[in-house]
Formats: sequence, C-alpha cells, structure tokens
Amino acid sequence: SYNSRRHGLIIELRSLVHQQRLVDAVQLQTQHMAARDLVRNLAHEIKNPLGGIRGAAQLLEMTYSNQKGLKEYTQVIIEQSDRLKNLVNNLLGPQHPNPLIWANIHFIIEKVLSLQSMQTQSQKVRIEKNYDPSLPELKLDVDAMQQVLINIIKNAEDAMNDAHTSHPCIKIKTRAESGVIIRDRKYPTVVAISISNNGPQIPEEMRQTIFYPMVTTKSSGNGLGLSIAQSIMERHGGSLECISDETETTFKLILPLPKSGKFSEV
Ligand SMILES: Nc1ncnc2c1ncn2[C@@H]1O[C@H](COP(=O)(O)OP(=O)(O)OP(=O)(O)O)[C@@H](O)[C@H]1O
Ligand SMILES: [Mg+2]
Repeated sequence: SYNSRRHGLIIELRSLVHQQRLVDAVQLQTQHMAARDLVRNLAHEIKNPLGGIRGAAQLLEMTYSNQKGLKEYTQVIIEQSDRLKNLVNNLLGPQHPNPLIWANIHFIIEKVLSLQSMQTQSQKVRIEKNYDPSLPELKLDVDAMQQVLINIIKNAEDAMNDAHTSHPCIKIKTRAESGVIIRDRKYPTVVAISISNNGPQIPEEMRQTIFYPMVTTKSSGNGLGLSIAQSIMERHGGSLECISDETETTFKLILPLPKSGKFSEV
C-alpha cells in the first residue's frame, strides 16, 4: 500500500439487557413521581376549600340552632368533610419529615412488631426473623421507617387474611448486599430488608401499578400504603421493590450505606 496506515475493525460487544433495565427503572420512577405529584397537588387544592365548607356548616348550626332538623344536615356536612380531610391528609403524607438520625434497623423492626402484635388480627400470623446482627447503623427517619414497615406488614396480613392462607407466615430478613443498583447508581454495599409472606401471588400486570397512589383491591383501602412507603424509601436514597410468585410475595427495602459509614459496636 502507499501509506502506512493499517486498516482494522474493532468490535465491542455489550449486553443491552442491563442498560435497558436501567432505562426502564428510571422511566418507571419518573412515572411514579409524576403520579404522586399530581395526587399531592390535587389533595392540596381540596384541603383549603374543605376547611371553609366545614366552618360554614358549623356557623349555620350555631346561627340557626332553633331550626328543627337542621343539625341533622349540618352534621352530615361536618362528618363528611372530616372524612375527606383525613383522606387528603393521608394523600399529602407527612408534612414535616424528621431529620435522619443514626439508628439500628432491628430496633425499628422489633418496635413495629411489638405494636403490631397488640392488634388482635395478627395473633395467628407466625413471624420468622432472620436478622444479620452485624449490620451497621443507618441514618434514618425512625418514624417514617416504622410507617414503611407497618404499611408492608399490614398489607401482608390483609392479603393472607383475604385469601384465607393456611399457616400464614411473615418472614423478615435483613442482609448486607453488594453491587446493588438503585435507580442509575451502583452501590458497593447496601442493607436489604426483605418482608415476605406466603399469601397469594400478585399478578405481573398488577405489580406494575401497586406503587401508584390510589391503586387498591380492598373495599376499605385508600391505595396509599405502598405509595407512601416508596416515597419514604426514596427520601432515604433507597428503593422498594416487589417480587411475587405462587408461593411467596416479598417486598424488599434497600437502603444504601451512608458515605461516612458508622459501624455499630457488636
Ligand atoms: N403482600 C401483598 N400481597 C398481595 N397483594 C398485595 C400485598 N401488598 C399490597 N398488595 C396489593 O397492592 C395494593 C396496594 O397496596 P397499598 O398498601 O398501596 O394500598 P391498600 O393496602 O389497598 O390501602 P391502604 O394501604 O391505603 O390502606 C393492595 O390493595 C393489594 O391489592
Ligand atoms: Mg396498604
């Protein structure tokens, strides 16, 4: 040849599955956030006039207290406004999140279980614990993390109750895991808390939507438990996922270790 350049071809093969999974996760996350914002804004808009309606009903009641039968109607307005206010407050979620403090996740789980066992419904549910006691402390909003656990455990109990699961059992497992991807970042070490129950399977198409606000299969449900739990996990930089087959349904909470890692004295 008349020049010294060599011709060659470099072929680089990379699996797109991993890349696609990242893109899917980010998209799903964006959709959840949009749905949550929409619901929250709507709730906020409903909240203000609601106060006015309730106040006016009270005023009516006071002003026309001599009118027979009026109180019956005003009480309906007041009661129903209160009901709506509760719903709206739940939709808005915690208004003033607590600061994150160093806490032991096992203490929080134990606290929730002791609260839960006071309720009669959960008497017959067996609880299996499988803790890794060497896990470090984490920076947590303790009240909010309790809320996450309560919501998930309550759902597990509801599901097993409704399906009349024989030998209902909830397993709680804590572990350190490595190389876990949360949204688009890979973490060398995370803490994983898996809460499993042996109740009915959540069908694949439903599993996509259960984290949306107001998605429920229960007659008395608001469909908020998982949406709130997910936003609390995100506030901790973590995530919440659901794995479900015929034998077991698991909700897995992932919490990254803070940069300035603090290890509990074991
Ligand atoms: N462990 C589980 N097993 C089976 N289905 C579940 C489980 N957890 C959640 N689900 C399904 O996901 C839906 C949404 O759950 P979520 O906690 O968000 O709302 P909810 O329990 O219906 O109402 P709320 O929590 O507001 O009282 C439930 O209605 C149920 O169908
Ligand atoms: Mg729930």
